Amino acid sequence: MYNINIRTKEKLIDTSPSLYGLFFEDINRAGDGGLYAELLRNRAFDDGIIPEGCSYDAENKLIISSTGWSSSFDCCELEGVAGWTAANGAEMSLTDKGTLNKNRKRALIVKFNGGAIINDGFMGVPVECGKNYRFYMFAKSNKSVFVKVMLTSESGKIYAEHSFDINGDYTKYECELTSSTTDCNARLSFSSCSEEPVTFGFVSLFPKDTFMGRENGLRKSLAQRLIKLKPAFLRFPGGCIVEGFSKETAYRFADSIGPVWERKPHWLLWSYMTTNGLGFHEYLQFCEDAGIDAMYVFNCGMTCQGRCPDYFDEKLIEEFYEDTVHAILYATAPADTEWGYKRAANGHPEPFTQLKYLEIGNENWGGEYNKRYEYFYKRLKEQFPQFIYISTDHTEKAGLATEYVDEHFYSDPIFFAANTGLYDDLDRSGINIYCGEYAATIGVKEGTLYGALGEAAFLTGVERNQDKVRMTSYAPLFKNVDYVSWKPDMIVFNNHEDYAIPSYYMLQMFAENRGDYVCGHSVVADSDRRIESGHFTAPDGTVTEGKCYSADIDISGDFRISFWDRGTVGEEQNHYDWILENGTSKVVHYNGWSAEIICNEISCDIPEGTAHIELTADEDSFKITLNDKVIHEHTLGAIPHISAVCTVDRNSGEVISKIVNFSENEIPLTIVYDTLMAETADMTVLTADSYSAQNSFESPEAVIPYKAEIQASREFSVSVKPRSVNVIRHKGTTA
Ligand code: AHR
Repeated sequence: MYNINIRTKEKLIDTSPSLYGLFFEDINRAGDGGLYAELLRNRAFDDGIIPEGCSYDAENKLIISSTGWSSSFDCCELEGVAGWTAANGAEMSLTDKGTLNKNRKRALIVKFNGGAIINDGFMGVPVECGKNYRFYMFAKSNKSVFVKVMLTSESGKIYAEHSFDINGDYTKYECELTSSTTDCNARLSFSSCSEEPVTFGFVSLFPKDTFMGRENGLRKSLAQRLIKLKPAFLRFPGGCIVEGFSKETAYRFADSIGPVWERKPHWLLWSYMTTNGLGFHEYLQFCEDAGIDAMYVFNCGMTCQGRCPDYFDEKLIEEFYEDTVHAILYATAPADTEWGYKRAANGHPEPFTQLKYLEIGNENWGGEYNKRYEYFYKRLKEQFPQFIYISTDHTEKAGLATEYVDEHFYSDPIFFAANTGLYDDLDRSGINIYCGEYAATIGVKEGTLYGALGEAAFLTGVERNQDKVRMTSYAPLFKNVDYVSWKPDMIVFNNHEDYAIPSYYMLQMFAENRGDYVCGHSVVADSDRRIESGHFTAPDGTVTEGKCYSADIDISGDFRISFWDRGTVGEEQNHYDWILENGTSKVVHYNGWSAEIICNEISCDIPEGTAHIELTADEDSFKITLNDKVIHEHTLGAIPHISAVCTVDRNSGEVISKIVNFSENEIPLTIVYDTLMAETADMTVLTADSYSAQNSFESPEAVIPYKAEIQASREFSVSVKPRSVNVIRHKGTTA
């Protein structure tokens, strides 16, 4: 029996205009070579510099921070110049002397000897026939040297060329190149007959056709994908890259403004260097161009707590505090002030009006965070009361003034589908919630329909509570398939194509269909419990398949056994653990990053030596006995087949119902209103033949929504497709 009773006249809460936003972080090379339209890799020659404060383990290609965090480093300059090769007798070497400016730590000295140096971009330089490309470089030479810059095929066929006479100290040489051919695996190369050395300080190649035609702009197709999501805001620049894994890799605003060749590079903890070309100014410019609000996330004086944290001393915290104040002033102060002047010099005399939210840290928590949060919040709020401040932990529980808390969820689709009610009991007078990062990850790493279904079900619950859960943003946004550090991601690209995963289309449906208020509605639907396999993992790693595990086993000391393990090797796990420690017993559900105690800790006489244990985990419940005494028993919560939320659009007089069918069955759903309704309604449906359906470069639109007109009335029945996200817009006739 499935029905939705809709009470159009019962106005529950207003919808939140800021509910659906974007979170951009430079991860998976989302920046340079991605959203930031630069086509050359290692344009500043500093990709391979061992980050300050780190040591290098050459054998394992790792860098190690001063606190002991190690991460991969596969581009060390001791082993070559990333992105560049020398051919046909040309010789190149990096130098730290005579660089372009103080922030450029390397320059490239080239003796051409009749040969060439070649940049292969981000797995090829993509060029299109008849399209124009903006090229510039800073180069110097003691004597006049004619250098030819060319767009070529991999084998050297020339698509465009231009010659420069390089002579004297660093000079900016620029030209426009028009490609004669379309080739997504082209190269940019320089050649010369001369044997005189030429020093390159910085080089850049951009398509002329960027988003809004901006120089130093964004890749049009990717920016447009973002716009089509109808976002309300952009959260930037991270994510963990804000925290860094060392003082030196923590994000600073001041490094990200000014002429791009003068910006400091930033080693991102996702294991590559960015030239910071996509900086604070560019983020704000995008917000202005897109007509959306900006949320700036800044480092609050500590590095990532999951990566051997470094808690900065007072002096350094103060430096980061000042950096934040400067960022705010850069965005908002008049042009005749110090920081407003810098903004004006960078081409934007008027203040940016988009900055609305400030997030104090990213994914920081606990006592160390509380101290820093308070330090930043009190002073910033006093000086800049106009902003909304976001905490990354429930600082209100520590008695600190808190406006918004940013909560993050990475889990499996079932977690999301089972948690549509997560926010139903929020304290209406308390803090606001921002779900700043969420995504179904476990088991759906390639971005499948299943993930989108779980997320959609969860979002119906968010929408029902949008008076308190005011904002959300899916994470991460982008993945360059050739440089992957995190999966899944909403938009997938290579150097010339892109597609979006089903979650993107689901979010587009949700963001396009908002309504003005959530109206009264009740959903009657069957539910089930999803247990996908039954096996037990003993402390020594032995796995037993089946529904029951029984053993005479030594449980003295700390003892743990996992059951209903649905994780796959190499992924975060999803399992239930029975844990005996310190004379207590409990059961914890681990799902992605969450750990929920589902059977409370009880004190328990743990016998010395061997004991008889029995675990039965069958369908939807489990039972644990110790020496024939039942100590835990639990039945799992059920997952509704149908989750829904209904809003009313005052202007159009439509009731908007978002309906998610998480089940594998077609569901006959009866919809009943408290008022007269039109005889037809518009329905948008996102579905596919299997949960694992996904989009790809080959089939970018395998899973996209379709629209249909359906017969409807005050009371009607609609067949809801299996595994589907649906939006029904239905006009009231008396509205
Ligand atoms: O979205 C990927 C990462 O997940 C973010 O950098 C971080 O905030 C979270 O841990």
